[in-house]
Amino acid sequence: MATILPGGRAASAPLVGHGTEPTMFEMSAPGRTAFQLRTTGVPATPLSDLVPSAHLNPDVVPIAEVSERDLVGHFTRLSHRQFSVDLGMYPLGSCTMKYNPKFCDAVAADPGFNSVHPGAPASLTQGWLELLAQVEERLCAVTGMSAATLQPAAGAAGELTGLLLMRAYHSDNGNARTRILIPDSAHGTNPASVTLGGYQVTTIPSNDRGLVDLDKLKAALGPDVAGIMLTNPNTLGLFEEEITEIAAAVHDVGGLLYYDGANLNAILGVVRPGDMGFDIVHMNLHKTFATPHGGGGPGAGPVAVSSRLVDFLPGPRATRLADGTFDWVTPSKSIGRVHGWHGNALVLARALAYINVHGGDGLTRVAQHAVLNANWLRQRLAATLPAAYDRVCMHECVLTATPLKTKYGVRGLDVAKALLEEGFHSPTVYFPLIVEEALMFEPTETESLQTLEALAQAVERIAQRAMDDPESLHHAPQTTPVSRVDEARAARHLIPTEDAANR
Ligand SMILES: Cc1ncc(COP(=O)(O)O)c(C=O)c1O
Repeated sequence: MATILPGGRAASAPLVGHGTEPTMFEMSAPGRTAFQLRTTGVPATPLSDLVPSAHLNPDVVPIAEVSERDLVGHFTRLSHRQFSVDLGMYPLGSCTMKYNPKFCDAVAADPGFNSVHPGAPASLTQGWLELLAQVEERLCAVTGMSAATLQPAAGAAGELTGLLLMRAYHSDNGNARTRILIPDSAHGTNPASVTLGGYQVTTIPSNDRGLVDLDKLKAALGPDVAGIMLTNPNTLGLFEEEITEIAAAVHDVGGLLYYDGANLNAILGVVRPGDMGFDIVHMNLHKTFATPHGGGGPGAGPVAVSSRLVDFLPGPRATRLADGTFDWVTPSKSIGRVHGWHGNALVLARALAYINVHGGDGLTRVAQHAVLNANWLRQRLAATLPAAYDRVCMHECVLTATPLKTKYGVRGLDVAKALLEEGFHSPTVYFPLIVEEALMFEPTETESLQTLEALAQAVERIAQRAMDDPESLHHAPQTTPVSRVDEARAARHLIPTEDAANR
């Protein structure tokens, strides 16, 4: 039976249409609680006996009082209004939203893994330490590096860690240096991390092929350059063909090369960043190695380094000792901790499960299929949304909606929003910044030919709508629980309080 809320709304309102889901506070009724264990005969212990008074807040904290039934209904309804990787194709370029195999979750859900306290002594957690050491070994094998820290909680945290490693390395050699080079196609986290790491950004323009302009790069180099941050393939989905020349030029002035591993999915088991000349590599395990992410879910951004940087790695690291046992060891010149404990351990466990089940040849096939799918889609959509750079791409293709904008006033954002009505998640829009009306599709290896064809036909239907009724596209999506919102306003005037609905 539906719960009648103030204002007459029911908590089990239909899912379709635009009806709003009540907040937990609107569902709250005094004294209502979730399931409780029967405690007959066991005297209840007052809270003040369990919690030191210094930690007890005398003010009443508003907490919603709901039944288990209402709680489960609330979150289940919300989950049904959400697009997810489990529901359908999520071609959000640069973010690698691939389907995550459920066996990885099953591994992470094992009580032997998830009930261990991270502060438990090494003598009691040899299995966990071995798992972490194995993750490090596998990631070094994939990247061609010597050692890694598993601590950073996501790619951006890995970037900052990498920059602190660069600073520590250069300082150890007598001069921390001042500048980091970044191509103009880079992800926004790169310059942000450089600034947080205490360096200045020098932007390197791309050439007319969408690659780093080698001459302009060489002109920007000098003894004050601490290093360069690159992703390869770059954010246009294109492979930096002159990467060994870039590496040699940066190394010649004593700089280091940082690999932004957001695009590792494209080269997995095919080529290693270490062989391209990179010194520091972060990996987004939540992208490449199948952990559900987005919406603030936990990630992992391990950072692997070449031999000359191993002593500076954050610590402690789970380390395989000569006698075959494992212990926590902190490198001699460590930059210190970059995470409260040892990283998001269950994300690491998922990644190991994924790597081990695929094996080396399986990982190579992941990259090959991801690249094949992106190129198939690029070719299939060429007449509707042309590629920004008309060449073979890697695991993602950057297309442009400029023809639709010029002819019908329909923008990339309109196409992306209309795709939601068609049952597909939107691609990434307006990134990289150097492409006008950019739509970046990353189909990933997990989508079938039939799904790619269905996506292509959906884009074609939208292009037809642009001709017939362009105005309707400016208001898309209309069939989703939430229709078009003013995204800038939503971000700038966020009201993150329980009474937001009353404001
Ligand atoms: C190219 C690139 N670099 C870095 C990041 C940051 O990674 P994370 O979201 O794990 O912090 C992203 C995220 O999408 C990215 O696409």
